[in-house]
Amino acid sequence: MRVAVVGATGMVGQVMLQVLAARNFPITELIPVASERSVGKQITYKQKAYTIYSMQEAITAKPDIAIFSAGGATSLEYAPKFAEVGTTVIDNSSAWRMDRTKKLVVPEINANALTKEDKIIANPNCSTIQMVLALAPLHKKYGIKRVVISTYQSITGTGVKAVQQLENEYAGAKGEMAYPYPIHRNAIPACDVFEENGYTKEELKLVNETQKILDDRTIAVTATAVRIPVVGGHSESVNLEFHKDYDLNELRKLLSETDGVTVQDNPDTNTYPMPMYAEGKDDVFVGRIRRDHSQENSLNMWIVSDNLRKGAATNAVQIGEYLIANGLV
Ligand code: A2P
Repeated sequence: MRVAVVGATGMVGQVMLQVLAARNFPITELIPVASERSVGKQITYKQKAYTIYSMQEAITAKPDIAIFSAGGATSLEYAPKFAEVGTTVIDNSSAWRMDRTKKLVVPEINANALTKEDKIIANPNCSTIQMVLALAPLHKKYGIKRVVISTYQSITGTGVKAVQQLENEYAGAKGEMAYPYPIHRNAIPACDVFEENGYTKEELKLVNETQKILDDRTIAVTATAVRIPVVGGHSESVNLEFHKDYDLNELRKLLSETDGVTVQDNPDTNTYPMPMYAEGKDDVFVGRIRRDHSQENSLNMWIVSDNLRKGAATNAVQIGEYLIANGLV
C-alpha cells in the first residue's frame, strides 16, 4: 500500500506513524504530508528519514490510502481532492462525521458497512470512540435508553500547542496559550468551542456520534466535557440507563469478552483504569462497574483510553487494516 499520512508532524500524526510501524501496516511507500511551512523537513518512520511532501505533491502521487489528522478545514478542502484521484481517505477530523453520505466507523462495531465506494471514511471523536466501544455490546444486550457522561480529557487532544502551554506553566515560563486560562492546577469545563445552545462542540459530538455509530437515534445522550492537566488519555464517568435489567456479573463478563476492551475492576486491590497507565496502549480500559441504585436498570462505570491511540491513530489504522483485509482498497 502507498500510504499518505497528512498532518505527519502533529500530535496525532506522530502517534499514527508509531502505530503504523508497531502494527506492521503493509506500507510500500510512505508519503508524509504537513503544511507548507514543514515541506522539505524530515520525519522518521521505522528508523528511516522521510521528507515531508506538500499536499499537492501528495495528491499527484495518488496514494492508495491517505490518513488525515490535520484539522477540519484541511480535511474539508483536501479529502475530496484525494478521493477524486482514487485515494481512500480515513479522516480524523470532525469535517465529515455527521455527513449522511459518509460512514463513521469504529471497526469492532460497524466496519462491515464499508464498501469500495466509500472514499472518505470518518474516524469518530476520541471521547466517543472509547465510550461506544464499551457501550456497543451493552446496547445490543440490554438496550440503552439514556447515557450521562462527564469527561476528564487529556490536553494532547488539543494538539502540540496545549502540551507546550502546560510545559511552560510547569516551568513558570511565558508562552503561547492554547486555552483561554492556565491548565496547570486547573480544570476547564469547555472542550472545543461553545454552540448557541450552551453546549460545547465536544459535548454535542458525544451525543450525535454515539447515536450514529450505534445506529440508534432513540438513545438519549447528554454530556459535560472537561479538560484537565493530564497527558496519558481521556477518562469518562458514564451513567447508563437500560431498557432491560441486567445481572452485574454477566454484564462484567460481556465487557471483558469485548474485543479491544480490558476490564480493570477490583476495589479490594485498588484496581481501576487511570490515564497514566493507559498511555501508549491500544485498548479501552473499563472499571468502577457498579449498579446505580438511584434508579432502575442503571449502571455507573469509568472508561479510560489513550486518546491519541484508540481515540485517533489506532482506530484509523484499524479501519485501514479492515479495508485491506476485505479487498476494499
Ligand atoms: P505543520 O507541522 O506543518 O503545522 P496538531 O494538531 O498536533 O497541532 O497538528 C496539526 C498537523 O496538521 C500538523 O502536522 C500540521 O503541519 C498539519 N497541518 C495543519 N495545517 C495544514 C495544511 N493546511 N495542510 C497540511 N497539513 C496541515
